[in-house]
Amino acid sequence: MRVAVFGAGYVGLVTGACFAELGHHVVVRDVLTEKIDALRQGEVPIHEEGLAELLEKNRERLSFTTEVEEALSEADVVYVAVGTPPTHSGDADLTAVWTVIDELPRVARRIVLAMKSTVPVGTGRAVRHRLGERGLENVGYVSNPEFTAEGTAVNDFLNPDRIVIGSFDPADGDVVAELHKDIDAPILRSDVNSAEMIKLAANAFLMTRISFINEIANVCEATGADVVKVAEGVGLDRRLGPHFLRAGIGYGGSCFPKDSLALKQLASNSGYHFQLLAAVIEVNELQKRRVVGKLERRLGSLRGKRIALLGLAFKPGTDDMREAPSLVLAGRLQAEGAEVSAWDPVADPTGQLDGVAIAGSALEALEGADAAVIVTEWPELRDLDWAEAGARMRNRLVVDGRNMLDPATLRAHGFEYEGIGRAVN
Ligand SMILES: NC(=O)c1ccc[n+]([C@@H]2O[C@H](COP(=O)([O-])OP(=O)(O)OC[C@H]3O[C@@H](n4cnc5c(N)ncnc54)[C@H](O)[C@@H]3O)[C@@H](O)[C@H]2O)c1
Repeated sequence: MRVAVFGAGYVGLVTGACFAELGHHVVVRDVLTEKIDALRQGEVPIHEEGLAELLEKNRERLSFTTEVEEALSEADVVYVAVGTPPTHSGDADLTAVWTVIDELPRVARRIVLAMKSTVPVGTGRAVRHRLGERGLENVGYVSNPEFTAEGTAVNDFLNPDRIVIGSFDPADGDVVAELHKDIDAPILRSDVNSAEMIKLAANAFLMTRISFINEIANVCEATGADVVKVAEGVGLDRRLGPHFLRAGIGYGGSCFPKDSLALKQLASNSGYHFQLLAAVIEVNELQKRRVVGKLERRLGSLRGKRIALLGLAFKPGTDDMREAPSLVLAGRLQAEGAEVSAWDPVADPTGQLDGVAIAGSALEALEGADAAVIVTEWPELRDLDWAEAGARMRNRLVVDGRNMLDPATLRAHGFEYEGIGRAVN
């Protein structure tokens, strides 16, 4: 089949590459000329495992353009994968989505518009109305939300837990189902509103688990239990399962924070106060800041102290720093008067971390530091030469914001070690 993908970002590129891998012909369209030029020259603008290889392998079936007409000339399905960032009120900003809808030219044949961007419930209905106003009755509409996670997106796309297809007209849903026919996964067909809600509810549930285990971690700290063991024991219960029960310094990224706000706002706009979700968001905000308290308890005032942030991306396997805990932490530490150094193996913090000394290696970031904070669980940090790290630091203190290091090993190297929700001694 022939697919046009609007948006060459984290989702659009993975979608385009994976559909090409499934044998479809794909044109990816973006408004950023430099991005499209780079892609045409074989450069991949983001760090995502397996993406570069997939784009290269399927280059015969993939092309890139800035032109709407070129993208649409032969398309059977038009995917929308543009950004939907939060507005000041927390609602999703649908400006880019509406631009795509309004740019769609009249075409004689039937095409299906498939929404991959995460949008509030009711968006499909509004888009259907707008298409009708523009006389584009032969454009079908399908909600086909994306559940991939950055860092494992290619694998998630090709081996999903489920494919959700919400449509007004079942025949349009059939077209999108046909696109996925070589993927071995259950297909859930529904109305458009429910498909939109499945995406928001799934993300909210995952965030609820994270904030839940983070609060359990905080109580573990107060009572002398170890949240790593607690999570293991809880997760072995088949009714609960082990996923998203890792305590840490809170979630970030381009999806969870904005999608939780968007769902909370969507509920409020509909007259419902989503109390549980409001608490999940608040717990996450407080969790990011707890590291500062931990450092102060060990070091006293942070004024003039040098703190090394290890990891800047919101999670390992990506260069994405949108809403990363590292940004909040760096700002809080600087506000307390600390000097901050930082390192990340792939994220480029240019323009995002004013006054932070960016190091070329983890050891360089630790030079003269009073404390190291593990912000992102990059595997490189587990393998770091902690003896050498200790020798370079002014003071041997590690606050492990991801509970990824072995406390006994660190202590054997003369470090004070503090995790999240783990017994201090
Ligand atoms: N990032 C993820 O892992 C993920 C996972 C699931 C769902 N989502 C959702 O998918 C959507 C896209 O997210 P992303 O992370 O890929 O965003 P992104 O910011 O990486 O990419 C969006 C791209 O769309 C382009 N764009 C803007 N207007 C356009 C237009 N009119 N035509 C063509 N391109 C246009 C931008 O230039 C940008 O390159 C969001 O709604 C997000 O919530 C993201």
